[in-house]
Amino acid sequence: MKIIIINGPNLNLLGRREPTIYGNLSFDEFFEELSKKYADIELSYYQSNVEGEIINKLHEVGFDHDGVILNAGAYTHTSVAIGDAVKGIETPVIEVHISNVHSREDFRHISYIAPNAKGVIAGFGLQSYELALESFI
Ligand code: DQA
Repeated sequence: MKIIIINGPNLNLLGRREPTIYGNLSFDEFFEELSKKYADIELSYYQSNVEGEIINKLHEVGFDHDGVILNAGAYTHTSVAIGDAVKGIETPVIEVHISNVHSREDFRHISYIAPNAKGVIAGFGLQSYELALESFI
């Protein structure tokens, strides 16, 4: 089973960025643990701060992977183009967020990804990614 986690802008700063919201663990540390725990899954990870690069990655994986776990960061709330890419590929996409976006500012309540996602998981810290992974298994 081939699953990819795609993280969008500012998520490369996890562990250092607003730790009261996003925690103290870097994504690399978390990903290492996750990969060990799910050793029989072909799990990969991609991060970009650039909207077009996220779209290119979705196109690249979107016809041969079994699942995409996508945290598009702030692009979730702004990017019609990423929403269209999610709609245009065959691989199911689960939208994830570390924080509960619905308990935060109004602009974070909008998602251009959710209408075309298989589901949405938000508010469980880094465990949101693991819950998404479990749902694909
Ligand atoms: C986030 C929530 C977004 O609103 C924010 O812009 C992020 C991270 C989350 O994982 O909680 O960058 O996607």
